[in-house]
Parts: sequence; C-alpha cells; structure tokens
Amino acid sequence: MGAALPNEATDLIDGLYAGDELTRKELVRLLKLRSKETMAYAAQKADEVRRRIYGTDVYVRGLIEFSSYCKNDCYYCGIRKSNNNADRYRLSKEEILSCCENGYELGYRTFVLQGGEDPYYTDDKICDIVSDIHKLYPDCAITLSIGEKSYESYKRYYDAGARRFLLRHETADNEHYAKLHPESMSPDNRKRCLFDLKEIGYQVGSGFMVGSPYQTSDNLVSDLRFLQELKPDMIGIGPYINHKDTPFAGEKNGTLELTLRLVAVLRLMFPYALIPATTALGTISPNGRELGLKCGANVVMPNLSPVETRKKYDLYENKICTGEEAAECRNCLERRVEFAGYRIVTDIGDVKKHA
Ligand code: 5AD
Ligand code: FES
Repeated sequence: MGAALPNEATDLIDGLYAGDELTRKELVRLLKLRSKETMAYAAQKADEVRRRIYGTDVYVRGLIEFSSYCKNDCYYCGIRKSNNNADRYRLSKEEILSCCENGYELGYRTFVLQGGEDPYYTDDKICDIVSDIHKLYPDCAITLSIGEKSYESYKRYYDAGARRFLLRHETADNEHYAKLHPESMSPDNRKRCLFDLKEIGYQVGSGFMVGSPYQTSDNLVSDLRFLQELKPDMIGIGPYINHKDTPFAGEKNGTLELTLRLVAVLRLMFPYALIPATTALGTISPNGRELGLKCGANVVMPNLSPVETRKKYDLYENKICTGEEAAECRNCLERRVEFAGYRIVTDIGDVKKHA
C-alpha cells in the first residue's frame, strides 16, 4: 500500500489478521480511522481471509418476507405496529410454498422465512409450514427469522425441520438498546433467545445496524464483543436507513463507509462466518453489495417474495428489489457477484467450521 497509510492502521489490521485480541480502545481507534488507504488495506486483508476459507464462493439464500404485521414497536422500523400508514399483508402457506417452488427452480437451496412478530402465525402454523417445506425440499435448509420466542417454541420449529435462525441483537449496549426500542422490549430477552437457539442446535445468525441513532463507536465495539461471546455462524449488518413514518423520521442514515469498514473487521475477527452483503447496503449505494463482497461478505439474499407484496415489507425507505420478479433478482445478483470477482454457488452453503 502507499506511503500514506499510517502505521497505526496497518498494525491494528495486521493484529486482527493474525488473530490477536485487540483492546476496546484499539478497536474504537480502528473504527475511527477513516482514510481511503486504511479502508483499502482492511478490505485487502479481509478478502485474503475470505478467499482462504471460502474461495470465491458466494452463497445464495432465497428470502421470503411472509408477513408485514408486527406486534413490536421498534423506533427505527417501518413495519412497527404504530405505523398506521403501513400496508399490511400475510402470505398463506400455499403462497409461501409457491415461492419455494419458484426458488428451487432458480437454484436456491436455502429458504429464509422472515416476518414481523406476527401472532397470527401460531407455533402450530409455523411448524406446519416448516414441515411441509422440509418434506417437499429435503435437500434445502430452512431458516427462520421471526423474532423472539420461548425456548419451547424454538425447539418445536427445530423439530419440524428448521435448522437456521436469524435474530439480530441490534445493539449489545443496554442503554443504546433502550433508545431504539420501547420499554416493553428487553435486550436480555433478546440475548437469551440467541443462546437458547444455539443450545437447541440451530446455526444462528445475529448482527446489528450500523449508524443507528445515538450509536457510538464504543457501542459498536460492544457489538463486536457480544458477537465474540455468542460465536454466531452468520453475522448480518447493514446501515440504518431512515423511514419517515417512525419516531426516528429525519434521522441520518448510516454510511456506506462505516458499514464496509465493519464488514471487513467482522471478516477479520470471524474468519469462518457467513456474512451477507445486505439489501440495506445495496440500498444506500448502487454498488454497496458488490463493495460488501470485496470487504469479506460471502452471502447474498435475493428476494423471493411475490412482487405484489414486496413494497409492503417496508422496513426502511427506498428499499431495492421491490419491483423485480424472483428470476430477475437472481440474474441481477449473479451478474453483480461475478462483476465483483466472485461466483454464486447453489449448494446448501453450511458454515465451514474450524477443524
Ligand atoms: N434501517 C436498516 N435496517 C433496519 N432493520 C429494521 N429497520 C431498519 C431500518 N430502518 C433491520 C433490523 C432487523 C432486520 C430485519 O432489518 O436490523 O433485524
Ligand atoms: Fe434484486 Fe438486483 S438483486 S433486482
């Protein structure tokens, strides 16, 4: 790298690359080093790690957003229950199965069922949907992303055939958590859920928003530390993006730069993790997902939801991929991934583990 790269940055990045445990202060410092050269060096090292473990493989997960109803009221989220402007929908089991059929034909071997916390889908209903998908597509992984539940509920979904679960912790700092969520939501319960899911045997994904209101660099380091404790298989991050019908209307969006820096840091700290180049990253910048891949991300999640409902799963403004058919999304992403220098693989894409 050029002479402009401060030694401090190289030392910190080389430290992470070597598997050193950086102190809280060092991590805060690293997140604050904003030069282009530092970013380029972090991306280069992260890409090296990713290629060592996953080569150029990028896994695809077909995302089915099956309900935009939510009983929660997170201040940042467009489908929060108090948003009376939200256009709500639910997919029937038949509609969900038809998304899977479409996805299977497009080569997807993982289906991610994501929705708001919608009590309409009782445990019986979820188990019925999961077990039908499992019977019809025994060679596919079923991922759930349906929020906070009891140990018993999680266990029932697992027994029905679900093997992966995505639940972002959103922020690991309790004070910050209280600024993003109403009092009825507890960070301890969310963390309890994540550890329950692990105990049951799920491959667990967690993660956080970058640049959410009131977030500090110290909060972000707490997120990294929490992830070190949890040891998730998947880590999803994306920039916070404003939504006008929330209490945070008018707040600033998270930035592309900080999100990419964190993707690179995550790859260096968690060499084996499955890290998606998220839709939010693609929303704040036209080539955000490609840049995410170059900073160590190795998963993409094209949308399989029916086109009629896509716009209604309106977590934040200007969300991409809301007008495209599943096949268009698939092709678009394939081109983007190849352009970035990687290759989509259509196998089940389990996490690779240390020997
Ligand atoms: N901006 C960015 N990401 C958001 N999410 C929810 N609302 C927003 C927003 N306004 C993310 C949360 C959630 C995931 C499904 O979407 O992190 O876990
Ligand atoms: Fe959905 Fe490009 S990935 S349209």
